[in-house]
Formats: sequence, structure tokens, C-alpha cells
Amino acid sequence: MTPPPLQSVLPEGVHPFPHRHLLGIAELKPWEITWLLDQAEGWIEVNRGLRKRDDRLAGLTLINAFFENSTRTLLSFEIAGKRLGADVVNMTVAASSVKKGETLLDTALTLNAMHPDIIVIRHGESGAVQLIAEKVDCPVLNAGDGRHEHPTQALLDALTIRRRKGRIEGLTVAICGDILHSRVARSNFQLLGSLGAKVRAVAPPTLVGADVDRLGVDVYTDMDAGLDGADVVMMLRLQRERMSGAYVPSTREYFHFYGLTAARLAAAKPDVLVMHPGPMNRGVEIDTAVADDIARSAISEQVEMGVAVRMACLDVLTRRSRGVPGW
Ligand code: CP
Repeated sequence: MTPPPLQSVLPEGVHPFPHRHLLGIAELKPWEITWLLDQAEGWIEVNRGLRKRDDRLAGLTLINAFFENSTRTLLSFEIAGKRLGADVVNMTVAASSVKKGETLLDTALTLNAMHPDIIVIRHGESGAVQLIAEKVDCPVLNAGDGRHEHPTQALLDALTIRRRKGRIEGLTVAICGDILHSRVARSNFQLLGSLGAKVRAVAPPTLVGADVDRLGVDVYTDMDAGLDGADVVMMLRLQRERMSGAYVPSTREYFHFYGLTAARLAAAKPDVLVMHPGPMNRGVEIDTAVADDIARSAISEQVEMGVAVRMACLDVLTRRSRGVPGW
């Protein structure tokens, strides 16, 4: 099978991806992001074919260590690894020695001693994935750490937008809901801003987060104003598992003021794209009629792009150890 096409224009003399790990969007240059998206583009047709197989990772071991629940990210990394021919091992944290009190670092050293070729980690604490990356001998991919970053989610979101809208630069993207607790929002603010989109954070005052100012986004606490003229509306889940107090009076009231309904969406552009990273809480942050509107909702496409993006990331991060020329 031929490798994915290389379409982006890289500045002369720069390496397309000089990083050992993928820990966050913050560390990536705009052309590295675009180049990764081009790599992912090449896997989409492979995934739509009958035989979804390319053995470039044959003989390599991928460990998925998820310390938090996941459906989309875990499954798509497993599928991506298998389609590339890797031996994929999913560590089930609930049945692991983490439950007997083993520390994160001891768990990392244990995984490292089994000589994996790449480790994908999700953890509830911001910075935990970076900590593990410093202790192991192989590339590490961040599958979401606390409120910090979820880089492959932002990449798959960008790929979805680029394919649907033909560009990212100049688009107005409203990211709405529980910004405070959202690593998806933080990665997307950085990625979309880096590629030239005008990004809005739309949330109740209690869920905006103190750090958004330095991320270069425009803050709106009124949903209708935040949606006005938007090309893309990305809804976020209320992350009640990360809330220690009452951030919203009730889910009913939250839906009334911040839920995405067809009536509210009328403020956006007529060809607005509706997105949600999942899992969705229908009737809390998004109305079912909007989520299932096949003309405007890209939610299933986001999941599809997730496999392509994760195949690209696994391929790129293992090129050095596989001895690919130039890496
Ligand atoms: N979007 C996302 O990270 O979903 P999961 O929690 O199901 O992986």
C-alpha cells in the first residue's frame, strides 16, 4: 500500500514533525498541524475500503493505558493500531494494580519494562501524560489529560472542518458550553487559532475559565450573541464528573440558556456546521433534532476522522524507531 500523500507546503529545510511525543497542540507549529492533517487525509479512503490493512507497524507493540473512561478515543486508537498491523494491548485500569495503590510512575516504569513501541495514555490529571513521557523509552501520545489537552481530538475536529468547509483560516468557530473543564476546548482554541480561525468561547460566567484570555479567543456569556454569524458551532458536554460544586442552577435551566436548538442555531450562518466531540448529553447541551440533522451535523464524521487522524499519528511517531529514511 502506498504511503499517505504529502500535500502541505513546509517551510524550506524544516522537518515536518520533529517531536518524539504528541503531548499537546501547544507544542506544534501551524505547518506541523497542516502536515499531520494531510497525513490523516491519506488514510480516509483506506478506512472506507473493504480491506483496511497496512502492515507498516507489524511487530510493534502499542499499549493503550486509559485511566479514565472512553469510547471513541480508546476504540479508535485500537482500530488504528490494528489497521496498521501493530500488536495492540489495552490496559484495563479497573482490573490493574493501580487499584492496589501502585503509583503512576511505578505503573509507567512497569509498562516501559515490557518494551512497548508506543504508548497512548488518558489520565484525569493535567500533566500526568507528560510525566509518563519523561520516564519511558518510547513515544507517548496524549489521549486526554485532565483539563489540559486532547490533541488528537482537536486534529480530528480540524480535519472534519477542513473537509466540510474547504479551509480553516477566516472561519468563525463558536465553542460553547463547559469551557472550564474541557481539554477539547483548550486544544481546539490553540489549533484553530494557530490556523487562522476566529475562535469564540461561549459559556456561562461560571464555566468560562480564568485561562481563556491568554488563549486568544473572544469570550461570550450570551449564547445568541456567541452564535451570531458562526460558520462552525462546537458544543461541549457539561462535565459533571469534574465539578465539585454547583456551576449551573439545573440542567433544565442550562438547556434553556445554553442548549443548542434549531431556533437558536438560526443566528449562525445558514450553512453552519454543528460539531460535538461526544459523549453527548441530549437535552442538556444539545437538542436531538440538531444533533441528528444530517445536513448540518458533522458528529459522526468527527468519529470517522478520528480513526484516520490516529493512524497518521501512530505512523508518524514510530517512523524514527522503524528507521524510515529522513526520520
Ligand atoms: N471525544 C472523546 O474523547 O470521547 P471519549 O471520551 O469517548 O473517548
